[in-house]
Amino acid sequence: MAQEKNNISALAPDALKRPVPEHIGIIMDGNGRWAKKRGMPRKYGHKRGAKVFEEIAEYCCDIGVRYLTVYAFSTENWSRPEDEVSSLMKLFKEYLTATTSRQKEIRIKFIGDISVLDEELQRLIVEMEAKTASKNGLTVFLAINYGGRDEILHAARQLAKEAAEGKLDPQKIDSTMFESKLYTAGAPDPDFILRPSGEKRLSNFMLWQASYSEFVYMDTLWPDFTPELLEQAISEFNRRSRRYGNVE
Ligand code: FPP
Repeated sequence: MAQEKNNISALAPDALKRPVPEHIGIIMDGNGRWAKKRGMPRKYGHKRGAKVFEEIAEYCCDIGVRYLTVYAFSTENWSRPEDEVSSLMKLFKEYLTATTSRQKEIRIKFIGDISVLDEELQRLIVEMEAKTASKNGLTVFLAINYGGRDEILHAARQLAKEAAEGKLDPQKIDSTMFESKLYTAGAPDPDFILRPSGEKRLSNFMLWQASYSEFVYMDTLWPDFTPELLEQAISEFNRRSRRYGNVE
């Protein structure tokens, strides 16, 4: 059944023919509204959203996407009600301890400041990163306690420290050196950033890396998101003309 669901030629007959983006960023938005529409608590929407994340990650792996970055918890999300924050942390732990569906070549890396998470969660994160380090299909960057501004400050602080210690000439700092200090060091910038749920903003997601990313917005709430919709987003991205400040 799972195999049938992930049969990409059945899902999209042209799927094997079209170009596949190298890096997709997703702002997984709309869980709360999805739950509210069903008269359920917000955490019910997050739970469903976590399942959809796993399905989309597997699908990305199947079609050959190399990097997928998902926004799971922002530096601003701590201001949500305590019950919602703790249910999200519980969900991350459940995901990290689940033993099912880990057969695919998916490497998991965390981006964000994980040093403030509880010790058990930090330990599970380190274990998961180590366990999947040799997987060579898709790399998933899971953004937890992540903020684009925070990431830029984190990189700036590291460079400033090296300069203060006399290890680095500030004049030599360029984009390549700066990028090497970002959480996503070594990965290409996202080709496109997808935001479901009808909202049209970046919300502190990948501020440095998004400089030439295309944006694809969709009205569907994240818990209703499907591989078919991802295919639609990829088709929209493939129709865009990317000029990087140049002319056609
Ligand atoms: C934004 O939608 C979503 C979040 C703040 C949390 C996203 C988290 C998940 C999808 C779970 C990820 C789990 C794993 C294991 C990676 P919202 O709640 O703000 O929705 P709303 O705008 O409708 O209120």
